[in-house]
Amino acid sequence: MEPHPHAAARALVFLSLALLAHGKPGDLNRDSFPKGFVFGTASSAYQVEGNALKYGRGPCIWDTFLKFPGATPDNATANVTVDEYHRYMDDVDNMVRVGFDAYRFSISWSRIFPSGIGRINKDGVDYYHRLINYMLANKITPYVVLYHYDLPEVLNNQYNGWLSPRVVSDFGNFADFCFKTYGDRVKNWFTINEPRMMASHGYGDGFFAPGRCTGCRFGGNSATEPYITGHHLLLSHAAAVKIYRDKYQAAQKGKIGILLDFVWYEPYNYTIEDEYAAHRAREFTLGWFLHPITYGHYPETMQKIVGDRLPSFSPEQTALVQGSADYIGINHYTSYYVKHYVNLTHMSYANDWQAKISYDRNGVLIGKQAFSNWLYVVPWGFYKAVMHVKDKFRNPVIVIGENGIDQAGNDTLPHALYDHFRIDYFDQYLHELKRAIDDGARVVGYFAWSLLDNFEWRMGFTSKFGLVYVDRKTFTRYPKDSTRWFRKMIKNEE
Ligand SMILES: *[C@@H]1O[C@H](CO)[C@@H](O)[C@H](O)[C@H]1NC(C)=O
Ligand SMILES: *[C@@H]1O[C@H](CO)[C@@H](O)[C@H](O)[C@H]1NC(C)=O
Ligand SMILES: *[C@@H]1O[C@H](CO)[C@@H](O)[C@H](O)[C@H]1NC(C)=O
Ligand SMILES: *[C@@H]1O[C@H](CO)[C@@H](O)[C@H](O)[C@H]1NC(C)=O
Ligand SMILES: *[C@@H]1O[C@H](CO)[C@@H](O)[C@H](O)[C@H]1NC(C)=O
Repeated sequence: MEPHPHAAARALVFLSLALLAHGKPGDLNRDSFPKGFVFGTASSAYQVEGNALKYGRGPCIWDTFLKFPGATPDNATANVTVDEYHRYMDDVDNMVRVGFDAYRFSISWSRIFPSGIGRINKDGVDYYHRLINYMLANKITPYVVLYHYDLPEVLNNQYNGWLSPRVVSDFGNFADFCFKTYGDRVKNWFTINEPRMMASHGYGDGFFAPGRCTGCRFGGNSATEPYITGHHLLLSHAAAVKIYRDKYQAAQKGKIGILLDFVWYEPYNYTIEDEYAAHRAREFTLGWFLHPITYGHYPETMQKIVGDRLPSFSPEQTALVQGSADYIGINHYTSYYVKHYVNLTHMSYANDWQAKISYDRNGVLIGKQAFSNWLYVVPWGFYKAVMHVKDKFRNPVIVIGENGIDQAGNDTLPHALYDHFRIDYFDQYLHELKRAIDDGARVVGYFAWSLLDNFEWRMGFTSKFGLVYVDRKTFTRYPKDSTRWFRKMIKNEE
């Protein structure tokens, strides 16, 4: 039977009213977010600058790590990557075209201090002057990260880098130099990006440089070193914040915080056992760093399980660490299910969670898989993650420091530009972010990862997160369809 024409028309009217009332994917715009909300993209020095061994830059731990064949599936290095060092103007111009307000980039410590301390490399210092000045001339606000995985190799050789308390004053010295040199123009700082990833992958499973773990070729101890390095990362962060607050903040009037990665962990079964397992997973990742920053000590569940392998804070250190952030950066991509699981084979950071993650429940994936097998599209998990930060950590000011989705590195032109799966991801995730803001989360900015297809660490160039495609031979930039979606959303225009 044909539907009655009037019934169809009525249904249409009803449908559009319903969509107006409840919102639909695609209807976000700048006015959906609070006044002054910042939209930007994020990158890191090592992944985009290239010229790793040029213009006076000293090597970092990743340059050494990548010399071992098989470190990346395509044997890639970051020697050249996307050459932002020379092409930063193209990149800033693309940000302006889309309508972004800000760019989150990191400063390569060994480009400024090739040996970590001591001699300063003027070429490196000048590069960041050029980048910052060009951004400001184009009304792109810098959000500057002091450390994104790239420890100067010399410090690793001299005293085992993050394993030694000596790193704290060396990092403080580098931070001080950056505040003094760039702080007249940079008003938004982050000390360290994802200390959890550094500590757990650098020293827990050897997946990241410097590649240490129990049984790893570079040595290590997965039961102790992640906690020691985590402790020094926190103390280094706090030392840099103290320097900023004591010497620069009053005059420069900027803000400083830290960037923490946070996967949302959902209980596999809604049983007490799995609820606790999910709780532990959150505490061993986000809580490891945000709990001390908020409350002055490590989470109780970590103290209980890790015991005396977990360093403790002296009263002076507690005073330094607690409250050491004007805002909290949260990097979020995905969510996993978590089951209670005790693995007694080896004592390690990973087994201390007493939990096992699962990408599916009863064979049903938690969300659609992206190109990477660790990334599933779970928009509701973003809402839960942001609300968790709000509810459990005294409602801090939050900046979303990273969020994005990848496609295969061998996806070529022109197909690689038709990234509708990425538009769907951003649209759904930003709807969930808006929902969290409407429910009281104090989120003031959002940075998509990433402007460009770039060097993705252990994935080399086999995974692309960019809004802009980069031809690997000519370095020409080609904006993908997702840039048009952002433009429409940010500028309220086609
Ligand atoms: C990477 O390098 C190793 C050692 O030189 C070689 O065996 C392997 O085939 C290379 N892989 C690729 C994808 O080129
Ligand atoms: C990258 O630089 C390293 C020096 O650290 C060198 O050994 C390697 O051959 C370079 N790789 C390429 C592909 O240029
Ligand atoms: C948890 O879920 C799995 C899969 O559905 C099921 O086999 C198991 O019995 C559940 N466990 C509990 C304690 O409910
Ligand atoms: C138990 O821990 C060991 C050592 O970390 C690991 O190799 C193994 O995969 C774990 N087993 C399970 C089932 O997770
Ligand atoms: C692209 O790369 C993926 C793995 O990264 C591989 O499975 C696939 O076969 C490649 N496709 C082409 C056309 O080379």
